[in-house]
Amino acid sequence: MSEAHVELHPWSPGDLELLRRANTPELMNWVGGVENDEQVRARHERYLRLAREGRGLQFRITIPGHPEGVGMVGYWRHEWRGAPALETGWSVEAAYRGRGIAPAAVRLMLAEARAAGETLAVHAYPSVDNAASNAVCRKAGFTLLGEEDFEVGGGVLRTNDWVAELALHAP
Ligand SMILES: CC(C)(COP(=O)(O)OP(=O)(O)OC[C@H]1O[C@@H](n2cnc3c(N)ncnc32)[C@H](O)[C@@H]1OP(=O)(O)O)[C@@H](O)C(=O)NCCC(=O)NCCS
Repeated sequence: MSEAHVELHPWSPGDLELLRRANTPELMNWVGGVENDEQVRARHERYLRLAREGRGLQFRITIPGHPEGVGMVGYWRHEWRGAPALETGWSVEAAYRGRGIAPAAVRLMLAEARAAGETLAVHAYPSVDNAASNAVCRKAGFTLLGEEDFEVGGGVLRTNDWVAELALHAP
């Protein structure tokens, strides 16, 4: 499949609608469950704060003809076995899946992290049952470290722990 033509845009105040569109059970059940509007607005504020506080970056993913965004990807500070690291997460709206948008967006996000001077390892934790997201990790060049229990939305999720080394993949 040819590389999808995707662009990343820093999270902005108008992206609340993108979050609201993503707040469906089929999407959110992979990442902690559907949220009420207050929780969605709080998530939106957290994404805006990430950049302001220099703790990471969240992006709207666009493709030609869809400036409103078809998904999102980001990274933020994380602790991995007691050591500083980065964590990443992503989603693409159901209507736009299966075109390689997420792997292309994740690669761009890694490039943005390098450009921002990040050198820490970037971890991703898809559920072991999330075939699509595990495929994204593989296609975006992550290495599978093993399984890890991860706390999300008040529960425990059995996840894979994938890592991308920013320092080793420098352009
Ligand atoms: C995971 C996700 C971001 C993948 O996005 P994407 O842009 O469709 O990624 P790809 O096009 O590379 O497809 C990835 C896999 O999805 C599956 N897929 C293919 N076509 C699909 C379609 N039309 N609809 C749904 N899934 C499809 C395939 O398994 C594919 O892997 P393959 O190419 O090795 O066969 C998207 O499915 C999603 O948002 N899921 C819900 C949220 C989520 O799980 N986020 C990650 C939490 S860790």
